[in-house]
Amino acid sequence: MDYKNLLYSVDENNIATLIINRPKAYNAINAETMGEIGHFFSKTAPKLKGIVGVVVTGAGDKAFVAGADIKAFLTLDNKKAQKLSKQGHLAYNHIENFDKPVIAAVNGFALGGGCELAMACHMRIAGAKAKFGQPEVNLGIVPGYGGSQRLVQLIGKGKAMELLLTGDMIGAEEAHRLGLANHVVPQGEEVAKAKEILLKIATKGPISIAKTIELVNLYFNKKKDGFKAEIEAFGACADTKDFKEGASAFIEKRKANFTGK
Ligand code: CAA
Repeated sequence: MDYKNLLYSVDENNIATLIINRPKAYNAINAETMGEIGHFFSKTAPKLKGIVGVVVTGAGDKAFVAGADIKAFLTLDNKKAQKLSKQGHLAYNHIENFDKPVIAAVNGFALGGGCELAMACHMRIAGAKAKFGQPEVNLGIVPGYGGSQRLVQLIGKGKAMELLLTGDMIGAEEAHRLGLANHVVPQGEEVAKAKEILLKIATKGPISIAKTIELVNLYFNKKKDGFKAEIEAFGACADTKDFKEGASAFIEKRKANFTGK
């Protein structure tokens, strides 16, 4: 399917890349783009046969995503804003719950809804010039796409509170120090690093990868017991051919050949 504000491709190693493509607006996400992101992760990506994961990045050399599109903000009222926020939550939840790893390659500004997009991904690779922040308080609003929750999950309450209340932007090194960025790489090498990690994950058992993503996400789900789910997932994995293969390969001192069964 063709999108108006997104570009996607799948490379020779079966890694999908999704580009948020509104470079003139620093890839700011309007409602249409958010709808497309939700559609990509719920409808298109699950049908991309055999992909091992997705890299998300921004078009151009300035921004990953500079936030929700502020130009559409002036007409918002309570009802419209809640609708927009719910649309963002839904789309980003599709990313967080995607059964294959999704890595944000942060190539510039990741602010507001852009930082929230990066945080919904399973990992973040920061280029040296990346800037992260939740500047919503500068506009007299709060994060709308999960930032008040995911930032606390990733960096802890004290630092998250400071960034959310001051609206300060931080650079790649500080983001790395705080645990917001998994790695910092020279500018322009973010996608390559993300793909290197995905290639490593591609050698593992796909069922165990999908279950691990689910389990880690469950830690933050207040309605479900992640420990109980882990016991069940451990049992379910034991019934797979991949588990027998992985354990046999270790014992036989050879590389495992996983089939996803
Ligand atoms: N929405 C709409 N347009 C945006 C944008 C945004 N979030 N961020 C940048 N742009 C546009 C600018 O309007 C400008 O377009 P024009 O050339 O047509 O005027 C273009 O991108 C380049 O921006 P600047 O000229 O401002 O570039 P700069 O290098 O001087 O500054 C910047 C870059 C620091 C990212 C600055 O653009 C900025 O502060 N942007 C807004 C960041 C922000 O507040 N994001 C949070 C939005 S609220 C949100 O996201 C809520 C939520 O959680 C849902």
